[in-house]
Amino acid sequence: MRKRRDAFVTWSSGIRIAVNSRILKYMAKWSDSIHSDTQKTLVWRNFEPNSMFADRIADVPKSFIREILKVTVSQDIISFAGGLPNRELFPVTALKEAGNRVFDNDCPDALQYSTTEGCLQLREYIAERYKKVKGLNIEPKNILITTGSQQALDLLGKTFLNENDRVIIEKPGYLGAIQLFSIYKARFSPVTLENDGVNLAELEKASRLRNTKLMYTVPNFQNPTGITYSNEKREQIAEILRGRPIILIEDDPYGDLRYEGVQQNSFMHYLPEQTILLGSFSKTVVPSFRTGWVVAPDEIMEKLIVAKQASDLHTNFFTQKLLFEYLSKNDLDAHIEKIREVYGRQCVAMIESIKRHFPENVHYTLPEGGMFLWVTLPEGVSSMDLVNLAIQKDVIFVPGNPFYSSQDQVVNTLRLNFSCVDEATIEIGIKRLGETIKEYLQNKNN
Ligand SMILES: Cc1ncc(COP(=O)(O)O)c(C=O)c1O
Repeated sequence: MRKRRDAFVTWSSGIRIAVNSRILKYMAKWSDSIHSDTQKTLVWRNFEPNSMFADRIADVPKSFIREILKVTVSQDIISFAGGLPNRELFPVTALKEAGNRVFDNDCPDALQYSTTEGCLQLREYIAERYKKVKGLNIEPKNILITTGSQQALDLLGKTFLNENDRVIIEKPGYLGAIQLFSIYKARFSPVTLENDGVNLAELEKASRLRNTKLMYTVPNFQNPTGITYSNEKREQIAEILRGRPIILIEDDPYGDLRYEGVQQNSFMHYLPEQTILLGSFSKTVVPSFRTGWVVAPDEIMEKLIVAKQASDLHTNFFTQKLLFEYLSKNDLDAHIEKIREVYGRQCVAMIESIKRHFPENVHYTLPEGGMFLWVTLPEGVSSMDLVNLAIQKDVIFVPGNPFYSSQDQVVNTLRLNFSCVDEATIEIGIKRLGETIKEYLQNKNN
């Protein structure tokens, strides 16, 4: 006997099939992607990932810089857009030799799972370096090795932030931090970054807002501006935060790359109980190893370790061993000196080219280290419009827009990277950019 088919299921593609009522009932119960148009016709929608994302990820934009880098890869274009360390300076041979020694002497142990805290020898090395370079007494137990300092930031977000908690952030600030804190649905309190650190009156106000938990800073050769906080400002900031329930995050991936001026004190000197330090080997050795760290007091460290366990159990142990082997047999300071020498020259070359080719009403920072320089165009000029014109002239930079936590204004600033471009190319690129700016301003004024 033929079964009765008394209903239809229609796919969003338009295909329609007849089913009997028992199957229909079963399908309706089985999936909420089926809904009833009439009693007898169901529409079965196709799988739509966009409607399924969690709120925490749905609105977070892709990294703008990675999108820009895609444009530059395939073209003959001078790029000041990237934020990459200079690959010519990677200590390839020394790392290869260190890797061979780890294979010869430390395997199979170096290939096994390991502790969440990270390789003890590497943590001891970092603690000693804090003493030697910054005069800070930090114990290895207060250092957690992370998968890049970016992960350390993620663990802090996970550990501290509930939805709508407030984070004080530099304006402009590090894009990776803005992206990350957005994922934790934090609210931002941006404070203007001046030439010697954040504006104190704005900070005072922001620190009084309810649910403010974190202040995120990059006090040395900040990304994106290249600005360094003065000791005096650091002390004043510590004064404002002292005793308030706010943790100051000092993210310092560029601190070793100083090529001018004198080293400033860590916030740890002024506000030890409330400061968390982040560090990284990405800019001093290689970024691909993804080896960074976080320094935190005991109670916070306990929670960070739980957060880290849940994320990835531990950072790649083989690379930690390799890195330690490299660091113990090579002079890191001598290697850093080479990086400083090259970046320092390139920074000077960029400033000199800017002086020659940019109009006088364009302002720029004078970094004493790091990899970036920040340019401010006249008021009302859009750096987003400018980048489109610059690409046509085969030169590219990052418009300031993604470095602001609220993106509703016309942005007249832009970031230039000088670590990856040699001096002769800097001159050509800055000349092209200067011409583009001049043409743009002329057209705007006509
Ligand atoms: C200010 C800042 N913090 C953190 C990071 C991430 O570094 P890492 O490679 O250690 O994850 C970067 C990378 O460019 C950075 O500029």
